[in-house]
Amino acid sequence: MYSENFTESIKLVEAAREKNTSFEPERMTAQQKEDLLKAFHPDYREDQFEELKIGPNKGDKVPFELAATLQAHSRIKDKEIDLSDPDYDVDVLVIGGGGAGSSAAIEAHELGADVMIVTKLRIGDANTMMAEGGIQAADKENDSPAIHFVDAFGGGHFAAKRELLSKLVCDAPDAILWLSELGVEFDKDENGRMITTHGGGTSRKRMHAAKDYSGAEIMRTLRDEVLNRQIPVVDFTSAIELILDEDGKAAGAVLLNMETEEILVAKAKTVVIATGGAGRMHYQGFPTSNHYGATADGLVLGYRAGAKLLYAETLQYHPTGAAYPEQIFGALVTEKVRSLGAKLVNAKGEVFMHPLETRDVSAASIIRECNERGNGVETGNGLGVWLDTPMIEKIGGEGTIEKRIPAMMRMFAKYGIDIRKEPIIVYPTLHYQNGGLDIDADCMTTNVENLFVAGEAVGGIHGKNRLMGNSLLDIIVFGRSAGKNAAKKSKTTTVGKLTLSHVDSFEKEILSAKIDTEEVSPKLLPDYTNKR
Ligand code: FUM
Repeated sequence: MYSENFTESIKLVEAAREKNTSFEPERMTAQQKEDLLKAFHPDYREDQFEELKIGPNKGDKVPFELAATLQAHSRIKDKEIDLSDPDYDVDVLVIGGGGAGSSAAIEAHELGADVMIVTKLRIGDANTMMAEGGIQAADKENDSPAIHFVDAFGGGHFAAKRELLSKLVCDAPDAILWLSELGVEFDKDENGRMITTHGGGTSRKRMHAAKDYSGAEIMRTLRDEVLNRQIPVVDFTSAIELILDEDGKAAGAVLLNMETEEILVAKAKTVVIATGGAGRMHYQGFPTSNHYGATADGLVLGYRAGAKLLYAETLQYHPTGAAYPEQIFGALVTEKVRSLGAKLVNAKGEVFMHPLETRDVSAASIIRECNERGNGVETGNGLGVWLDTPMIEKIGGEGTIEKRIPAMMRMFAKYGIDIRKEPIIVYPTLHYQNGGLDIDADCMTTNVENLFVAGEAVGGIHGKNRLMGNSLLDIIVFGRSAGKNAAKKSKTTTVGKLTLSHVDSFEKEILSAKIDTEEVSPKLLPDYTNKR
């Protein structure tokens, strides 16, 4: 329910709706995009970054908040950890119970490995569960992995590691098949063919979806598969430090029971980090679409053990986070809303950009409209722009919203807003960590043997900006691959004497670099005490 403060602007949006629905805004040129990003995208705000003083990426710039957590003290500083009698001893230890971790565990189990998942919340408490719009795969006649590659490579500013992006797009059709066979109910037409739509930056309709709860449908299926296979899941237990062996190979993790605070030791022949993203770091004070546990833990674990980061300075601000009402501030409004025809409109009822520009460009464009041009809608909690959802029914016919994006309809209906009849207000929200740990095409980190990474904790798959639907895809493609490769590697690995000497060395580096910090990491959970 909108208060009277919005009435005048809503009238302008309604008056322009007929014209705006058929209006085809121009695409920006490459130069216009570059200028826009430099001026308005948060990644380009130099005053928000600092150089790392220690560790494998010493000298690289990352957001302040990430620098603080990477260069913080270990949770086991000054603690005696007995590594001689581990509580768990497995072939493959998977850290993280989201889509990537579950896929890795399933494939490692399929190859006969003794695999265990450890997760700080419950299996499925992950960004995968919150993903809405869909998963890309080039499996239609007019499409190909090569075209998918070109779209994603350009969208990521030509910075993706080619071997990773190539694997992503080539393995995509098989990922869809695998998920379907496990039981994911993708949307299909009356002939049983998958329905596919566009996302920002795609030249073909290749987004497969389960309405607007695609991630929940995928996570439900993966979780069932993990449980059916009786893969052990140790929940409410965080990995707080990696263990190496005397040769510097990953060989397990120190665990913290989140309820009892008991410290446990897991020994493993290989380790898979699948800890997800970092939205709860609230970089630059942005709200987030991420789940409660998204605190960059995997980056900290890997970094302290000597693994390199790639593109840790690039974050994705999803253009359409809910900006009103306050109760859902920052929640994801799926890009599928724009795929189905809704356009972004300013407070005067003007369309100010093409609705399917890439995410970084769209976010910067909204920020410019609000902060420079003065065309934002005042929400009482900041500014936003209209996303004119009733256009969807004009284009697709009555009932389209309920059929295709029912979760969006329900989310706003709870607050008295009927998105079939009224537009909604949006503003960028922190959504995705483009960067992460640097891996090779087998998912192993480039400088710590037997340490594999999958999902949002990886850097380099998407370059410096990710297209919609390539994240649900990467958790499956790289999760499966990490699980298979970790299982294979575990068969030929002998673990030497376990050590945590890298943790001591890191503490010494903090001292010698004169880093004055009280912070401990990994963060594990966000700290909202005394914060709005
Ligand atoms: O807009 C969305 O539904 C988000 C999708 C994604 O991040 O891939």
